[in-house]
Amino acid sequence: MMASLSLSTLPTSTPTKKPLFSKTSSHVKQSHRFKVSCNSAANNNEKTVKNSETPKLILPKTPLEMQNVDRRNLLLGLGGLYGAANLTSIPSAFGTPIAAPDNISDCVTASSNLQNANDAVRGLACCPPVLSTDKPKDYVLPTNPVLRVRPAAQRATDEYIVKYKAAIQAMKNLPDEHPHSWKQQAKIHCAYCNGGYNQEQSGFPDIQLQIHNTWLFFPFHRWYLYFYERILGKLINDPTFALPYWNWDNPTGMVLPAMFETDGKRNPIFDPYRNATHLPPAIFEVGYNGTDSGATCIDQISANLSLMYKQMITNAPDTTTFFGGEFVAGDDPLNKEFNVAGSIEAGVHTAAHRWVGDPRMANSEDMGNFYSAGYDPLFYVHHANVDRMWKIWKDLGIKGHTEPTSTDWLDASYVFYDENEELVRVYNRDSVNMTAMGYDYERSEIPWLHSRSVPHTKGANVAAKLVGIVKKVEDVTFPLKLNETVKVLVKRPTKKRNKKNKQEANEMLFLNKIKFDGEEFVKFDVFVNDVDDGVETTAAESEFAGSFSQLPHGHKHGTKMSMTSGAAFGLTELLEDIEAEDDDSILVTLVPKIGCDDVTVGEIKIKLVPIV
Ligand code: C2O
Repeated sequence: MMASLSLSTLPTSTPTKKPLFSKTSSHVKQSHRFKVSCNSAANNNEKTVKNSETPKLILPKTPLEMQNVDRRNLLLGLGGLYGAANLTSIPSAFGTPIAAPDNISDCVTASSNLQNANDAVRGLACCPPVLSTDKPKDYVLPTNPVLRVRPAAQRATDEYIVKYKAAIQAMKNLPDEHPHSWKQQAKIHCAYCNGGYNQEQSGFPDIQLQIHNTWLFFPFHRWYLYFYERILGKLINDPTFALPYWNWDNPTGMVLPAMFETDGKRNPIFDPYRNATHLPPAIFEVGYNGTDSGATCIDQISANLSLMYKQMITNAPDTTTFFGGEFVAGDDPLNKEFNVAGSIEAGVHTAAHRWVGDPRMANSEDMGNFYSAGYDPLFYVHHANVDRMWKIWKDLGIKGHTEPTSTDWLDASYVFYDENEELVRVYNRDSVNMTAMGYDYERSEIPWLHSRSVPHTKGANVAAKLVGIVKKVEDVTFPLKLNETVKVLVKRPTKKRNKKNKQEANEMLFLNKIKFDGEEFVKFDVFVNDVDDGVETTAAESEFAGSFSQLPHGHKHGTKMSMTSGAAFGLTELLEDIEAEDDDSILVTLVPKIGCDDVTVGEIKIKLVPIV
């Protein structure tokens, strides 16, 4: 490890003259004075604790307080109206949101088409225990809940850690069939992600229910953690108990939190199925490709911050790009064209799963595969930070940063056992107000707010110079194979956009109908106007638009599970940075990183997406 390099020696990566966030910059100024050494980042040591606790970020108040309107009325009365906006998918015209079945006994063994189930060490029988034949009750949020404040894992006190471990141990002590047991809690993820449920509740018994790669990703996991946390609190008799969060977006949290390591004693939150080479002091990689970047500590931190900025700001300017594409009853998760995974889900979220999962295991258990991820206590701590990203994104107060408002989203619902072993149905609409849900996050600095990329090179007319050398998108035969690097020139719908234009619409690059093998870890990178100058463009530079990445949904040998998704990348700031705003066309480069041999892209286009 290198000796105490101070983060404050990093080049500040905000090259632009004007403030990026007039609304929030006054609150976050302090992070310029943020100091952490690469040593302390790696060791979670005491000094880090003190330093990072001083500056507190005060974010603006939550702009949106959802009204609790009777959902049945909304569903019947407004379904058609809202549905009209979604004419591309016929079922939503009936206003039928996705719902987990009332009859949880209809749950089936996950991915039962697995050819080599023996490889699945955690087992694929993921259905919950059936305690009664009663229908799940609609869940009512407790009035005046005791506030639970989720601490950043790297700052958690010894006292807290003892409590947290005791709670997990109590969970592990329960009989496996108990709905609160460690195994049953883990299986929830497998059932919802690996085909345990279908859409019978909404009239589509032959279609799977899936909460990944869609706008259900954030709310489903928020509810999952909500009950998991309440169950843990109940097990140790502490109504204020809150889960820790893995603060991977802050340099002080960019290593696996120390409490999760084996300590020679029996540590209930240790998991043997983790990548042993990624224990501290290894720095987490927000853009993890499946192989270590080899970057120095300081470069890795810088790249991480820059990628966080891209995923939270540049590539998530609106509801769809942050939450993921809409997914309503009748949509087939294995085959939904034009679907887009949210920037955080497809980005840092997937990367952390893969970075923690054990590469020696057939399916990268535990974290590296959806079916097994819930078996690692770190899963919930990782997802707490994912959930925190939702809060931060919304609290930035930027126009366009709002939750979906369609009833297809608001009324989508899942079924869980609550802390009283009561089977309850919960709705997305009740997940938007964290205060009403009774929890919050301990503040931690958000240094990536200042990590807008710097250009690798600047210059106009890159694409114009390549006409005749690189194919124009209209001359490309789709679907386009990604078994090798692909370059294509893409025309912009408009150019020379002024300030007002930019306030009205985001210019976005869309990769639609991406088909890939759902059994593989898939990742490719996307660059704009990246010309070969002999020096590789890094993910921290402006030309790097972002990545598409996917965690395997299961594992089978010999066969493929074809899935379709899409990706969107923000161009407005990118083109400003590289000074290409006046160009007619841009050069788009797709670089396969892993699992791309069978990947195809069905469409590449630039669109202006109105900011509403
Ligand atoms: Cu449900 Cu992190 O995945």
